[in-house]
Amino acid sequence: MTMPINWMTDIGISFDDLNNDHKYLFGIFDRIKKVSKQDCDPLIVGTALAELNEYTTDHFRREAAMMKACSYPDIEIHMQDHAKLERQLNHLLSEMSFEGNDNLCTNLLNFIEKGLVDHKLIMDKAFYTWAGENETIIK
Ligand SMILES: [Fe+2]
Ligand SMILES: [Fe+2]
Repeated sequence: MTMPINWMTDIGISFDDLNNDHKYLFGIFDRIKKVSKQDCDPLIVGTALAELNEYTTDHFRREAAMMKACSYPDIEIHMQDHAKLERQLNHLLSEMSFEGNDNLCTNLLNFIEKGLVDHKLIMDKAFYTWAGENETIIK
């Protein structure tokens, strides 16, 4: 059984931080969805995509630190999914450089719904559930 950890002292991250990350990411998703359903302005979408990329990278790093601190048994498969999502995100960013890519917004929306949201609902949820069942402190 995992011992409770003083998150802020031991690794400088709390589950509240991760929850706030998720809220912030969903805010970016909403912005992208709104623009994509209107005119898919490349400048606005590109800015949001760059922010999504930066914030996702930071969030994945924080989540990985938390999984390590908890000795989460499924960390490897979870990290593999993070790596896959980062590759897909980088691919979308590289597509941004091609003018007139009509599929960009469709691909981006698919990536958000089938990649990031599914990851949150399945893999992140599994980690949080495991942490709760193993007496890890979750506020
Ligand atoms: Fe995750
Ligand atoms: Fe997450």
